Amino acid sequence: MINIALPKGRLGEKIYELLSKTGFCCEEFSKDSRKLIFSDKNSGVSYFWVKPSDVSVYVELGAADIGVAGKDIIDEFSPDVYELADLRMGKCSMCIAAKEDFTDDMSVPLRVATKFTHIAEKYFSKTGRDIEIIKLNGSIELAPVLGISDVIVDIVETGTTLKENNLKVISEILKISARLIVNKSAYKFKNEQIENICRKLQEAINDID
Ligand code: PRP
Repeated sequence: MINIALPKGRLGEKIYELLSKTGFCCEEFSKDSRKLIFSDKNSGVSYFWVKPSDVSVYVELGAADIGVAGKDIIDEFSPDVYELADLRMGKCSMCIAAKEDFTDDMSVPLRVATKFTHIAEKYFSKTGRDIEIIKLNGSIELAPVLGISDVIVDIVETGTTLKENNLKVISEILKISARLIVNKSAYKFKNEQIENICRKLQEAINDID
């Protein structure tokens, strides 16, 4: 069996839809049930519904042979896995954003609110800007609006959340898309099956482009 960790949500549902069309369907699969594991002996696959930010944990630890994770999660957590393919789906950007009237006062550390603390630290250490991280878990856009940070480092997809909170992009620091990640030992021992799934998934994605 090949164990596949899918990110719960629209992206995971789309990936399942593509995989099921290419022969890796699972009779009992449902996005709406509370069940989290679905197996199909005939097609030789098991799917797990996983919180998107946890996919790389399951793949690194070998509970899943392969999984789909955003480049943001891969850069934030640096899991010890192979990144096999850019699936060119789930596209968005990691950006620095701030209030419309923001100007940077270089004489004090920049207060940066984010849930992506490693990405933010790596970026600002490269630019040499002194920062203070404010770790949040969601609704990051509130931080500059309520004055607890100067900027945010967060995902921008349509830009609606920034716009509706009177924030603007200062710079884009990472282009994000979904990646197919693979457990290192599974890649060695189940190489043929994994390469087959990867090829078929990429073909299915090319067909919809
Ligand atoms: C994400 C992200 C932004 C928003 C960007 O939040 O953190 O807040 O989506 O999307 P947009 O550019 O299309 O408006 P999510 O919905 O995951 O919730 P969160 O605030 O709890 O992180």
